Amino acid sequence: MTELFTNYSSIIVFLHVIAAVIWVGGMIAIRFAVHYSMLDITDPKIKLGRTLETLRRFFNMVIPSIILLLITAIIMIIGLNLKESPDYSLAIVKEVIWTIMTVVFIYIYIKRNKAAIAFENGQFPIAKEHLAPLASYLIPLNTVLGIIAIFLGVTLRGL
Ligand code: HEM
Repeated sequence: MTELFTNYSSIIVFLHVIAAVIWVGGMIAIRFAVHYSMLDITDPKIKLGRTLETLRRFFNMVIPSIILLLITAIIMIIGLNLKESPDYSLAIVKEVIWTIMTVVFIYIYIKRNKAAIAFENGQFPIAKEHLAPLASYLIPLNTVLGIIAIFLGVTLRGL
């Protein structure tokens, strides 16, 4: 694993960063651009349909990014011998952040699926109820955690 990191360090850090860009950048774009652009759609069927489809396509990008972040993180922990480094506690904080973000993402995923089922059955208010926490606190929470993880990444750079 150490050899893998020595030979491919640029590509591994690149994959780690691009996965973070897709996950965190995607959440910011959805919450602050797409969300506000949808607010003035009055027809609930169109509004909910578009929201569900946007999230479905976004999740298709996020799931590989979550897995890629973890794989590249593990390679870096071993490859950089982070366990012996005085900054190992920062790597542990990042592991905790990744875990919380993933649990929150799974909850978001389940909520979207429940909303999609309600939508298919024509129960628009129930679908709306399932989606509301995503915009009000779940996506903002994961965005803040992601930004903290990026900051810690900068601190860990070039060890
Ligand atoms: C799973 C636990 C994680 C570990 C152990 C970890 C570890 C690291 C390490 C060692 C670096 C420095 C790479 C180098 O330049 O040598 C780094 C950079 C970075 N990490 Fe993580 N990371 C984790 C999770 C995350 C998460 C969840 C995000 C964001 C969603 C993230 C975003 C970044 C970014 C953007 C950088 C590049 C910072 C820079 O260019 O200076 N990491 N990470």
